[in-house]
Amino acid sequence: MRHSPAPSEHLEPLCNVALASDPATMDKAVRTLSRGGLVAIPTETVYGLAAALNSKVAVAKIFSVKDRPQDHPLIVHIAQIEQLHKVAEEISADALKIAHACWPGPITLLLRRSESVPTSVTGGRETVAVRIPDNTFTRQLINNMGSPIVAPSANRFGKVSPTTAQHVCDDLQGDVDLIVDDGACSIGVESTIMDFSVSPPQLLRPGGIPVEDIEHILGYEIQSSDGISRASGMLQSHYRPSCQVILSQNELEATQLFERLTPQQLPARILNRCNNLPLYASSLYNDLRQADADQLRTLIAILPKNSGLGAAIIDRLTKAAAPI
Ligand code: TXA
Ligand code: MG
Repeated sequence: MRHSPAPSEHLEPLCNVALASDPATMDKAVRTLSRGGLVAIPTETVYGLAAALNSKVAVAKIFSVKDRPQDHPLIVHIAQIEQLHKVAEEISADALKIAHACWPGPITLLLRRSESVPTSVTGGRETVAVRIPDNTFTRQLINNMGSPIVAPSANRFGKVSPTTAQHVCDDLQGDVDLIVDDGACSIGVESTIMDFSVSPPQLLRPGGIPVEDIEHILGYEIQSSDGISRASGMLQSHYRPSCQVILSQNELEATQLFERLTPQQLPARILNRCNNLPLYASSLYNDLRQADADQLRTLIAILPKNSGLGAAIIDRLTKAAAPI
């Protein structure tokens, strides 16, 4: 006798997803974090995998769920600038200027850590990365917790970051206690990271706020950090889909590359959103994920101009294209 498959309503839901707009969700998120659980939170950049700053168990869980090396520190998310003085010390006037001009928003400041930030969060370093995310639910969650939360991007280490609740569910099902769904992230690439623990400050990772905007606010030129990788986003290979990503400088070159692909490199697609950089950024991780969902072997990505948001897009595509 053939067994008919169980009706889908009897299956365990793969992920515990709750809408940010549902009034019951805030309470669920606070309770989960307070009990040492992990909550996937919406931000304007990418979804984060959040734990309470002071929960040793939950912080350790973040590293194991992500398969992330212990020396890759977590960003501390706060809700008001006043909280910055609780988690960081020796905050320069320029760092404060950027905080006031850009927060809430996609920029993270690297500062000297205060005693209240455990070294398990900072990867053993004396610096702490801090930002105020531009998402009302998440800021309210931090306020309701009464202390900051830590959150890396809610993906496995080295893989493509999530910009929807569905992406988080696809990646981390079973490993996250609650996913708060607040729709697609508006910026779509991670925050810019600026190191203000050194003088003059340096750019560690290009991101949602262009370095030109920071230079405009500070009135001087910003250099990129050289040498040792201090941020995992600075590793050569990161944000990788399964298909091969090939970079191209323009449409003509992309077409020529496409025509030269071997049968083993097909099916393939050209990714070109250079005429709309905000859209290129906000759909980038979905485009990389879609390439895999469509079982492409090759994605030829046309690089935008290296200015404004283009710098972050080039950075992520270059790392997606790098050999492991
Ligand atoms: O937009 C974002 O920044 C998102 C959302 C969730 O806020 N978060 C994010 O976190 O991108 P994550 O962990 O994927 O990337 C943070 C980067 C890592 O490369 C980490 O190594 C670096 O920041 N980082 C954090 N604290 C640091 C520190 N004390 N020194 C050097 N790098 C640090
Ligand atoms: Mg990440």
